[in-house]
Amino acid sequence: MHEFCYRKGQLCCEQVPLETLARRHGTPLYVYSENTIKKHFQRLDQALAPLDHLICYAVKANSNLGILNTLARLNSGFDIVSMGELYRVSRAGGKTSQCVFAGVGKTEREIRDALQKNIYCFNVESEAELHRIHKVARAMRKRAPVALRVNPNVDAHTHAKITTGTYENKFGIAFEQVPDLYQRASWLPNVELRGIQMHIGSQITTVAPFIRAVRKMLPLVREMQERHRLQFFSIGGGIGIVYRSALESGHPGWWGGRKRVGRNHQPLTIDLFARSLIPLLKPLGMRILLEPGRYIAGNAGVLLTRVEYFKLTGTRNFAIVDAAMNDLIRPAFYDSYHAIAPLMEPPANAKESRYDVVGPICESGDYFAKDRALPPLREGDCLALMSAGAYGFTMASNYNARPRPAEVLVKGTTARLVRKRESLRDLVRGEKK
Ligand code: LLP
Repeated sequence: MHEFCYRKGQLCCEQVPLETLARRHGTPLYVYSENTIKKHFQRLDQALAPLDHLICYAVKANSNLGILNTLARLNSGFDIVSMGELYRVSRAGGKTSQCVFAGVGKTEREIRDALQKNIYCFNVESEAELHRIHKVARAMRKRAPVALRVNPNVDAHTHAKITTGTYENKFGIAFEQVPDLYQRASWLPNVELRGIQMHIGSQITTVAPFIRAVRKMLPLVREMQERHRLQFFSIGGGIGIVYRSALESGHPGWWGGRKRVGRNHQPLTIDLFARSLIPLLKPLGMRILLEPGRYIAGNAGVLLTRVEYFKLTGTRNFAIVDAAMNDLIRPAFYDSYHAIAPLMEPPANAKESRYDVVGPICESGDYFAKDRALPPLREGDCLALMSAGAYGFTMASNYNARPRPAEVLVKGTTARLVRKRESLRDLVRGEKK
């Protein structure tokens, strides 16, 4: 569900035509729908109503202050992985007391900062980290709230680079080692055992891996809860979204949407997620935490880009656009699919052509789509790369000395610039000759 659709022939975000924003702010440009963010959060929140629960939005998906503030106003918690993310949450008005801190490499400085800010819990990923947290807490005369992150060794059947819950991955503590480590942790006076956590991967598009992992975890969770009086069980993030037919407009789908929707791209609905997991989790009588990132922000954002040139080689028809892999790295990095929609609605009988949509960066991996059927394009046309709200801007870089794009947050008929486009000066800030 999202709020990008054609109105009177123009692709709009909520009530605002995207072409207007592209003209006003230039391209490449990220545009987000506040209403979509809110609706996603609320839908999940309502579906989990039978459970005592806390949604901790995964800040890594999209950490713009405007987005974090929208979620803070809904009383969201936050899943953070660095001091920088914690800083962003505070700056956006989020409660640090509702933050959980994940990640395999927390530094002493980060641990100290998080303890000062009284975060809700550290999700501990190794015994070495547990001891470091204890040491820092003792020096500060505090008790650090911790949960052990369990690696349940369950394959989430998602992309290899975003699978986290098997023993091939660096994350969490091996399932079999967990009871002993809780025991040893319980002897540490400056540590408070507060919960237990798992996370098996990202962009999981069926409910089965979640069920498998939760089922496997249940006896362990019950045992640890009884022994150590844990407050919560966090089942992590990973709820997948639909990338293929992200534009629902009753349109034939030049962006290659509807025609190629396959079995693996059926949406994992929140209803199904809740219906399958609540009966397993409810009897625990514990607080349940979730750490969704992509589900909240993914389909709430697009990246606008303009066509600069065309180039016909013997075999390929390249549309060279002004956005590049530095702005949105997902296709280059994961071979991921993003629907592409022209901002001006093409006539229903427009003939398709096939394009490789590529950026200006000096790498062959700098592409957004290969051999994609699109309505005929012209120089200067503006396109929306759909479903770019999660892991879009947050993974952007300055590669090829390209300033990062501006970001706009739309609410109804109003659009706010929530991050200025970087300038050339920004590119060299802090550097010396
Ligand atoms: N919790 C933990 C411990 C995580 O590692 C992650 C994501 C999340 C929650 C949020 O997962 P989500 O609900 O967004 O699936 N850059 C990749 C995704 C990397 C995900 C890393 N961990 C992409 O663009 O697909």
